[in-house]
Amino acid sequence: MSIQYLNLLDKLKNNIPMRIIAVMNQKGGVGKTTTTLNLSYALNMSGKSVTVIDMDPQAQLSMSFGYDHSDNPGISGAMLSDASAEDISIELRPALNLIPAGLRLGEMETLTKGGSKRGWMLKEFIDKNITDDFVLIDCPPSAGMLGMNSLFAAEEILIPVSGDYLGLHGVSRLFSILKHIEKALGTSKRKWLLVTRFNERRRLARDVLGKIEEYFPEQLMNTKIRETVALAESPSFGKSIFEYQKKSKGAEDYLALALEFLAGKAK
Ligand SMILES: Nc1ncnc2c1ncn2[C@@H]1O[C@H](COP(=O)(O)OP(=O)(O)OP(=O)(O)O)[C@@H](O)[C@H]1O
Ligand SMILES: [Mg+2]
Repeated sequence: MSIQYLNLLDKLKNNIPMRIIAVMNQKGGVGKTTTTLNLSYALNMSGKSVTVIDMDPQAQLSMSFGYDHSDNPGISGAMLSDASAEDISIELRPALNLIPAGLRLGEMETLTKGGSKRGWMLKEFIDKNITDDFVLIDCPPSAGMLGMNSLFAAEEILIPVSGDYLGLHGVSRLFSILKHIEKALGTSKRKWLLVTRFNERRRLARDVLGKIEEYFPEQLMNTKIRETVALAESPSFGKSIFEYQKKSKGAEDYLALALEFLAGKAK
């Protein structure tokens, strides 16, 4: 019996909903991909089945997992030409699957056919094909059709923010965009704000953290991801931090993050 089938049975029995989380921030370089990679691995180590989807045409998540096979149609193949889930899903380790970007993902941004359905293609794919405990979506640093698909598919939005004032402005903008979308959809999404690349010794980082605590006390996560060299190095070896340096601060922080997610209920 396949793991996916067992998962489905388990979910029907216990009525546990799948948690779909979009890792999103229009600002570049804030740690979206690093977070998707290591959080998915940590959740999987904690016994959860996880699928990660690379929704960024830069395909950095796929590369960070050590996967750069350009012949895989990826999520773009599923959304643009009905590639099947089996064709595109790669088992990285038991109950941890990667759906890579695929070469045509950039085309989604200029897609004109499909009308209002264009925004729902990712959700439709997930609903039809995935039965895991968690789906994590690595979003691009832009607000186009790929971001929209990710937002419509996810019930929870994880927003990494690195410690500078421009980043803080970006988060305020993102929150107001989310508010509009939630109103239009008539649903509310759980928002998690994660401080990344945190260096406690830097005054600016401490000041920005103070502002985030003041403005977004409900969304701010307890876990902070500290800036460490090992986290920056591990993707070039195609490894998560747990495979690269399992006793590092980065491994400690991402495990704590996974536990915070497991403890926190989606609203
Ligand atoms: N906690 C950390 N400590 C040190 N380096 C980090 C940390 N988090 C991320 N980095 C590094 O910062 C850079 C940007 O991180 P990452 O690629 O995860 O950001 P991103 O938000 O996905 O970027 P993009 O918007 O381009 O997709 C990378 O070189 C990454 O290795
Ligand atoms: Mg990225």
